[in-house]
Amino acid sequence: MKIDKKLNELPLSKMNPNSLESLFGEKDIQAMWMADSEFEIAQPIQEALIKRIADSGFGYEYKPESFFTARQAWYKNHYQVDLIKEQTFFSPSIPATITIAIENLTAKGDGIIIQSPVWSKFREIIRRTKRKVIKNPLKLVNDSYEINFEDLAEKAKSENNKILIICNPHNPVGRVWTKKELAKIVTICKENDLLLISDEIHKDVILFNNQFTSLLSYANSLDKLIICTSEAKTFNFCGISDSIAIIPNKEIRESIEGTLKKYYLGRTNALTRVALETAYLEGGEWLKELIETVEKNVLIIEEALTKTNSKIKLIKPEGTFQVWLDFRNIFTNTKEMFKNVTKDSKIGLSPGHWFGREGALFMRMSIATTEQRVQNAIQKIIKSVSNK
Ligand SMILES: Cc1ncc(COP(=O)(O)O)c(C=O)c1O
Repeated sequence: MKIDKKLNELPLSKMNPNSLESLFGEKDIQAMWMADSEFEIAQPIQEALIKRIADSGFGYEYKPESFFTARQAWYKNHYQVDLIKEQTFFSPSIPATITIAIENLTAKGDGIIIQSPVWSKFREIIRRTKRKVIKNPLKLVNDSYEINFEDLAEKAKSENNKILIICNPHNPVGRVWTKKELAKIVTICKENDLLLISDEIHKDVILFNNQFTSLLSYANSLDKLIICTSEAKTFNFCGISDSIAIIPNKEIRESIEGTLKKYYLGRTNALTRVALETAYLEGGEWLKELIETVEKNVLIIEEALTKTNSKIKLIKPEGTFQVWLDFRNIFTNTKEMFKNVTKDSKIGLSPGHWFGREGALFMRMSIATTEQRVQNAIQKIIKSVSNK
């Protein structure tokens, strides 16, 4: 797969010199820290966007029926779920949906459970909305992460804790939760009247024959459920996209949708609509290629670490286009690890503690890029710690 032709010229957030300077202390960094793909978008999507721009002006748009039909078919074929149009609506972003859900459905001081290490915005949102972060840390067992169900059941029991947010597949550790694990989560939420928010943005990149299950398939047994998702990250058009909220329960849906309507946040973006509809109709082959490339990149990293006898350990991902690297055999201090690897390799990775202190001494590396760029980067990272 090819990367963006003008990757280095685009004003991409992850390469913003000011961000690089403030995060890594210098501007001359290859940015592999953000979960953002570098691939040129699928040819049919490019063509559809070019055609839409050439076609006419950009008056107010609505989403035609063909859009919903295409989305329904994609969700049925790819995730084996039946989307009900009325239960599915636009939200400007996933963090926006989660923020509104927390504000509308809980009170200040209530506990929101997250499974750290996890995408840092969950923690940020909980703090900004003045709720309490309740951690149900993941357990690392034989180089694979597991949910600590005993701890979860304990935390769920507390009357103060109202919501559990899960990340499926899990960013940053790359687990794709199994049906058995999800069924246990559903049972715990049901027994304790917890609202379950499932962030499924990484659902399309499922590696090495693992199986993704959407929480939507449990909608009949769990009433208090919100699915947040988007295909923008998969198809590399986060710059023009919004997100999707799927909420089967009418009351919860009306509450969240009501807030979006109150602020008039439902306008259709013509380019988003075209990109998404084309992705649903014609994106399948491109997605297959993406998955194959990401799998190859994981294997490149695995092989490079093995061949060089590196002390860096790979936590092999089941999904997502990131890898989680374990530096605990090399460093005991997070700051030292971050400084050392960044300064010597010039590769900008996300240090694990950004995802919660449970991620300390790990680093996340984004690998939705060419095999050559991944090969070069991992060699530089290995070299940066080779004398340690
Ligand atoms: C788990 C997860 N949720 C949501 C997002 C981003 O959502 P949005 O593009 O709607 O802001 C990311 C981006 O990295 C993510 O990893």
